[in-house]
Amino acid sequence: MKSYNIAVIGGDGTGPEVTREAVKVLEVAAKKFSLKLNFTPYDLGGARYLRTKEALPDSVVEELRGFPAILLGAIGHPDVKPGILEKGILLRLRFELEQYINLRPVKLYDERFCPLKDKTPADIDFVVVRENNEGLYTGSGGFVFKNTPHEIAVQESINTRRGVERCLRFAFEFARRRHKQKKLTLCGKTNVLTYAFDLWERAFHEVGQKEFPDIQRDYAHVDATTMWFVKNPEWFDVIVTDNMFGDIITDLGAMIQGGMGIAAGGNINPVGASMFEPIGGSAPKYTGQGVINPLAAICAGQMLLDFLGETDAAAAIETAVIKVTREKIKTLAAGKMGHSTAQVGDLVAGAL
Ligand code: IPM
Ligand code: MN
Repeated sequence: MKSYNIAVIGGDGTGPEVTREAVKVLEVAAKKFSLKLNFTPYDLGGARYLRTKEALPDSVVEELRGFPAILLGAIGHPDVKPGILEKGILLRLRFELEQYINLRPVKLYDERFCPLKDKTPADIDFVVVRENNEGLYTGSGGFVFKNTPHEIAVQESINTRRGVERCLRFAFEFARRRHKQKKLTLCGKTNVLTYAFDLWERAFHEVGQKEFPDIQRDYAHVDATTMWFVKNPEWFDVIVTDNMFGDIITDLGAMIQGGMGIAAGGNINPVGASMFEPIGGSAPKYTGQGVINPLAAICAGQMLLDFLGETDAAAAIETAVIKVTREKIKTLAAGKMGHSTAQVGDLVAGAL
């Protein structure tokens, strides 16, 4: 029997409620596919920070490094200044565990959930490969003359040849394995960011031409990309982009696939500890009410199994999610599902 150790960080707000349902579904999948999943919970988040004044102890980072996969609920607490937990936990883990890919599938399961007129599941099925360790997220920059009238704030976008190439290679490989349109779109801003995206564009064509001649190369500016997401989402297969643009376009992607209730992503280190999470935040106002949608967390669990190589178990979870969303759920929005958080978990577990 294959056995996997999985760290579970419920985190803040509704994070623990949704991860509980994801674990419930993973346990059913494990039983069905004869896997052993050993879950280890970690108490991280705003409550712990307020209690201990420490967001993430070094020793915990080292422990987490030893897991093949981590399931994360949400990070963000109303009593902690914005930035502290995000940088101290989420971004620190993404960086220190070298999860250099943020993989965000955008897939519509039922046209009732799509805000776009006349778009169906056949039109909305693409994947964003977001660079996850560089760009504007490194924290590089600073102030000069802070709090004076001639204050200067600099925030630098870091793009290394190595970082860009490994991200591009992952994206090309992904497009090849996905075998859909076999097309990779670079989303950038070559007309304005003439240094950063010059490097991206050159590396894109060099790597593509030499190593992935079977994959069609396509380019779209980031502003146009948002337009196409709404107008012609069916044009996309796999999109690769930098950290900041990837952050922005995947919120729009989440909306066209039905909202934050269903959108999941994976912070991937192809050879290390990867971390899977619902894209939505900690939703403090819904905390403890049992009304938040756990499907995004369940889909994060599905991505986790897929990453571990348990593709049949992952596919079975997706089939169950599709069945439940199409047959049992009124809307994907919190409080309007027609079921509680735990009931949605039960429905998926039952369908599985
Ligand atoms: C996301 C989030 C994070 C990001 C925040 C919470 C730091 O928006 O995962 O998309 O910007 O990456
Ligand atoms: Mn985001």
